[in-house]
Amino acid sequence: MKVLLLFGLVAFALADLTRFEGEQVFRLKPVLDEHVTLIKKLADSIQVDFWKPESPELVTIDIDVDIRVPAIYLDIVYTILQQSDMEHEVLIEDLQTAVDAQADSKVSPRAHSYTKYNTWDTIQSWIASISTSNSDLISKQVIGNTFEGRPMTVLKLGKRSSSTKPAIFMDCGIHAREWISPAFCQWFVKEALSTYGSDSQMTSLLNQMDVFVLPVFNVDGYDFTHKSNRMWRKTRSRKSGTNCFGADPNRNFNAGWCTAGASSNPCSDTYCGSTPESEIEVKNVADFIRRNKSIIKAYITIHSYSQLLLFPYSYTYELAADHSELLKVAEGASAALRSLYGTAYTSGPGAATIYPAAGGSDDWAYDLGVKYSYTFELRDTGRYGFLLPESQIKPTCEETMLAVKYIAAYVQKNL
Ligand code: ARG
Ligand code: ZN
Repeated sequence: MKVLLLFGLVAFALADLTRFEGEQVFRLKPVLDEHVTLIKKLADSIQVDFWKPESPELVTIDIDVDIRVPAIYLDIVYTILQQSDMEHEVLIEDLQTAVDAQADSKVSPRAHSYTKYNTWDTIQSWIASISTSNSDLISKQVIGNTFEGRPMTVLKLGKRSSSTKPAIFMDCGIHAREWISPAFCQWFVKEALSTYGSDSQMTSLLNQMDVFVLPVFNVDGYDFTHKSNRMWRKTRSRKSGTNCFGADPNRNFNAGWCTAGASSNPCSDTYCGSTPESEIEVKNVADFIRRNKSIIKAYITIHSYSQLLLFPYSYTYELAADHSELLKVAEGASAALRSLYGTAYTSGPGAATIYPAAGGSDDWAYDLGVKYSYTFELRDTGRYGFLLPESQIKPTCEETMLAVKYIAAYVQKNL
């Protein structure tokens, strides 16, 4: 009886988890208009998951296009690639193997680790324990609940003070499948707490400023990538008139909303939502930043992958009023990052550096008046993409710390 019950539970858990046997990730290199047209036609006719750029509308000539193709369509795709003479490579031979290989080991998945991809439940208990163990330097605040009712908790790092301090806001995990991102926010919190008092820059930063950290922005989506579909990107909201779930939180901010690089189709991975801030997670963050607008001096948002350091604008090709300063700081931060392991980053305004995409948090924060507004796209450049092995969490976080600290030091100097 017990065995049967256990078997039933295991079968249920398996049935609920999307598997990716035989799926492949390709990198296509369109160099002709026909290639671009072909990729878009392919996206219309078969089910293709765009990894980079995030949707077929963003495909242009001379960029790398990383797509995930289900096993049943591989023959068609190979045939089309051959016929069109488009250069391409296979980045991932078998996606399920890559998913399985991402975790170093399967032991004690419930224990929190800074060098593992923790589940939401584990992160939630980590948030609870870390914020009580260091009450002089850290406090927590729930800024609202997600669509499915999970709390969104912001950690405030900084030496307690009677006066209000200027602050930096940083979020991770806007997109559910970009697992290295929440791993970085957890790493940052640990580093801040453990190096305060010994590292002079961290000490000075936390004495003078507060750092607000939202470790997981899209909690529902993140949980879904652990329990059901590793490749999920959007929120998990439902709305009438469609069977598709969620919107892209980084297309849902009120910054040139849904004018470029976003889709009004609720089934698209870059769906901009029904209205700006239709996604409760976006509204919660926007409300928090609006409430603290007078003290927030920098906005940092962590994504993956591509190794980029982007700043406004993405909704227009126009240069931001502070373009040269933003570029200078981005280049300094990229150089600091590179100094550790040689990891190369490209920096620039979003629209010109990758593609125009409206409704992003960086552009919105900038237009609200938060001058130092940056989007990181962490490792790698596509070898593993979203499935970055756990062995790379530590080096990725270490090098990213240098870039974030560079930006923070600059902001602090220019208060
Ligand atoms: N890959 C990110 C995205 O498409 C880049 C964000 C850059 N900023 C922006 N506002 N589009 O969401
Ligand atoms: Zn992202």
